Amino acid sequence: MHTNATRSTPEATWPHFELRHLEPALGAEVLGLDLSQPVSDAVFTDIERAWHAHGLLLFREQSIDDLQQVAFAARFGELAHTLKPYEGAKVHPALMFVTNEKKDGHYVGALPDGEMYFHSDMCYREYPLSASMLYAMALPPAGGNTVFAGMYAAYEALPSELAQQIEGRLAMNSYEPGYGASNVRMRIETPATEHTLSFAHPVVRTHPAGGRKALYVNRLMTEYIVGIARSESDALLKTLFEHQEQPRFQYEHRWQLGDLLVWDNRCTLHARRDFPPTHLRKMRRVAVRGERPV
Ligand code: SIN
Repeated sequence: MHTNATRSTPEATWPHFELRHLEPALGAEVLGLDLSQPVSDAVFTDIERAWHAHGLLLFREQSIDDLQQVAFAARFGELAHTLKPYEGAKVHPALMFVTNEKKDGHYVGALPDGEMYFHSDMCYREYPLSASMLYAMALPPAGGNTVFAGMYAAYEALPSELAQQIEGRLAMNSYEPGYGASNVRMRIETPATEHTLSFAHPVVRTHPAGGRKALYVNRLMTEYIVGIARSESDALLKTLFEHQEQPRFQYEHRWQLGDLLVWDNRCTLHARRDFPPTHLRKMRRVAVRGERPV
């Protein structure tokens, strides 16, 4: 794994912008687009094609406001309204801030502090998110990188015996509302309560655009594999988590102000590195509702 300090040569096949790979397993940087301006259908068709090819797109040095980000996210599909009326909802029901910022002693957004294990957004819902989009508004001087992992590459690199073991299996994904980000890494060690949100999805899902298969379990939210003994499930998940989190499948994003990242939760996972809680970190987030995984 490298960070975004490493640059490849641009890909030649994109008429509307320059595209540079970030890592072989996932990620590309789009150069030459100003997202504060309307994006034509022809340009968006290519953006979406690049997104499907790479799972994660980076747009640097963007200067966009709340509604410009909402408008760009809406090109990717039906916007997902946030689960709680965070401060961002005053502007749009799909807008929230991932931040440790407080007003009147209360956090104004979600996931304020700390490290987060690898996960796929809202995999505990029947209709998880397809696209998630973060825009960097304030950053701590160190830490807080977001690490992405490519789940096509992880699936394709599975030993065949392991691939056979998980073929056709479902896994239960869960989330306990009300947990602060500082506790979020402990989630899998906490027993489910009546407040737990859970949904079972295929361990291997097929992307609706292109039909490629991706590993769809994660350390933060996958609790167990349905239909096998808990001890067998625990051992199998441990093997899958260790496999999918190998650095060879990762891209680590070191944020700069004005970065906009859009990732596909159907074929990537992401995790967050720790950062000092004494420094403000603020990301504007808009996301898109996905289909039921198959
Ligand atoms: C998230 O998991 O959606 C937040 C990622 C981040 O804060 O970098």
